[in-house]
Amino acid sequence: MSDRIHTLSGYFYEYQKSVAEPENFWARIADSFHWKKRWDKVLKWDFKGPNVQWFVNGKLNITENIFEKNLFAYGDRVALIWEPNDPNEESKKITYKELYHQVCQFSNALKSKGIVKGDRVIIYMPMIPEAAVAMLACARIGAIHSVVFAGFSSTALADRINDCEAKAILTSDGNFRGNKKIAVKAVVDEALEKSSVETVIVCQRTGQDIEMKSGRDYWWHEVLEGQEDHNVAEEMDSEDPLFILYTSGSTGQPKGVVHTTAGYMVYTKYSFENVFQYAPGDVYWCTADIGWITGHSYIVYGPLLAGATTVMFEGVPTYPDAGRFWQVVEKHQVNQFYTAPTAIRALQAYGTEPIEKYNLDSLKVLGSVGEPINEEAWRWYYTHIGQSRCPIVDTWWQTETGGILVSPIAGITPTKPAFATLPLPGIQLCIVDPEGNELTGNSVEGNLCVRFPWPSMIRTTWGDHERCKQTYFSTYKGMYFTGDGVKRDHDGYYRILGRVDDVINVSGHRMGTAEVENAINEHPLVIESAVVGYPHDIKGQGIYAYVICDMTHRTEENLVNEIKDTVSKIIGPIAKPDKIQIVQGLPKTRSGKIMRRILRKVAEGVTDNMGDTSTLLDPEVVNQIIEGRK
Ligand code: WT7
Repeated sequence: MSDRIHTLSGYFYEYQKSVAEPENFWARIADSFHWKKRWDKVLKWDFKGPNVQWFVNGKLNITENIFEKNLFAYGDRVALIWEPNDPNEESKKITYKELYHQVCQFSNALKSKGIVKGDRVIIYMPMIPEAAVAMLACARIGAIHSVVFAGFSSTALADRINDCEAKAILTSDGNFRGNKKIAVKAVVDEALEKSSVETVIVCQRTGQDIEMKSGRDYWWHEVLEGQEDHNVAEEMDSEDPLFILYTSGSTGQPKGVVHTTAGYMVYTKYSFENVFQYAPGDVYWCTADIGWITGHSYIVYGPLLAGATTVMFEGVPTYPDAGRFWQVVEKHQVNQFYTAPTAIRALQAYGTEPIEKYNLDSLKVLGSVGEPINEEAWRWYYTHIGQSRCPIVDTWWQTETGGILVSPIAGITPTKPAFATLPLPGIQLCIVDPEGNELTGNSVEGNLCVRFPWPSMIRTTWGDHERCKQTYFSTYKGMYFTGDGVKRDHDGYYRILGRVDDVINVSGHRMGTAEVENAINEHPLVIESAVVGYPHDIKGQGIYAYVICDMTHRTEENLVNEIKDTVSKIIGPIAKPDKIQIVQGLPKTRSGKIMRRILRKVAEGVTDNMGDTSTLLDPEVVNQIIEGRK
């Protein structure tokens, strides 16, 4: 526990040390882990390649650091509390020892299906304990997992299977979500018409009818039969990939962000313990889905490495009613609660009645993640959920950063609504203007970069290192560029302003505008489209699509619905445009570039003061667009 920050001066002290002597700083933290072989050098790096290696030549297994290292000390402690979708179904409590045996047993089953170190395994599963077991079992044998959010379509799933050339898929028959029963295996079957894997392992959850293809598909409970519940964890190099997670960028195709073993392990545990001030015995709940990085780092790896009791929730915030989160907080006596602003805003709309039925006295810390939290939502969260006594940690980070980079330390860093406040130790931020000049001092606004490596940072994009270099390390020389705009106020506190690239953040989910456009363009009557984000009361940003169509065959209403369905089918329901405006033309410059600035303004509802439109090929298009605004 010596790595714990207890005071504000302690934070500043640690921060200074981490900048002055980064290698000594991280060596000290890493020393508390179990290494099969200690590293030769803490850090080798250049951001040109980029080539970043932490704990060079160290050998370890992340699951040994969750289990073997600690089983004597706290094997009987609850590792995972699983809360089902239906409040009447029984929740499950799984101790560290039990989880260890489940992971070993399932990893033996994977091995029996020929899966070995370095193989890619897709996990397309609902929020059930087996999903965490699946991730850890892969890590145990050195297979690289790639979790795909179970709300993604078969096309999106097939793209990911193909991109990482997966050998196996771990899935379920179906998924309970609110009052719906959703097909999961059927989506996998459809995806496998456009891709292929050797093995599919299906966990039974809903009991619905599914097809099983002989020689390829196996039941989870059957592959477990006869498997030992212990084994020796595979020896992994510090820089062996732990997982791939696909995320959207400004180009059409999602990219596979690669995280490696040792640095990710060290940073997720360290950041988890400090940001949330987790104390042994506390019950911690992060409401994210394991399909996103938040679920990886702060439901599974960080908390389990820290010996925490982590809650995994299968359901949704509004089922059976808008009090569900608070019912679960009371039921499991949750101490740290971590959710997204979009959920807070959605629940805010129901007023305080659903909260008043439950006792929230167990809460000590509240967290926010995924998108900027607006001041009103922050205050509501603080007052009504935190009873004006729980600090809020507004945590800023990204799939690529692996862990939280900017956040208050709960109860220690004084907070300010809508500010992520200060960088964690080891994180050297830099604000630059569009030309790449550093903006020093306080009260500045610009683009957020990081100038020095941290252990859990992205190493590459799967199968395409050049893309990693272009996307993150080429915009500003010698720096990792986050894609976010930021303000540093007079106190030196950071406030994230949102993306400055063609990425939009819908309910905390990242969407590339090009990706949505590509999906829209799949509709046979669509000629061209342009997608922008616009402010949305609950989702943070909504998706606004301007579409040029062949209108001779359909009514506008039918076409709009068909386009929505097309996007749903190609990406998933989360990418469905909120507004679709059929237009005759798009505002293009003479060189053919769409002037998105104008489209954003119209989508926001600004219809005067369009700025300089003199370079437009046909300025009249702008008036037509304004008139047809949705
Ligand atoms: C983008 C990363 C980090 C896990 C979930 C999202 C935005 C994230 C915050 C925050 C303001 C935030 C940024 C970032 N973002 N957290 N606390 N305040 N913005 O991961 O899907 O990789 O998205 O989410 O724009 O770049 P992601």
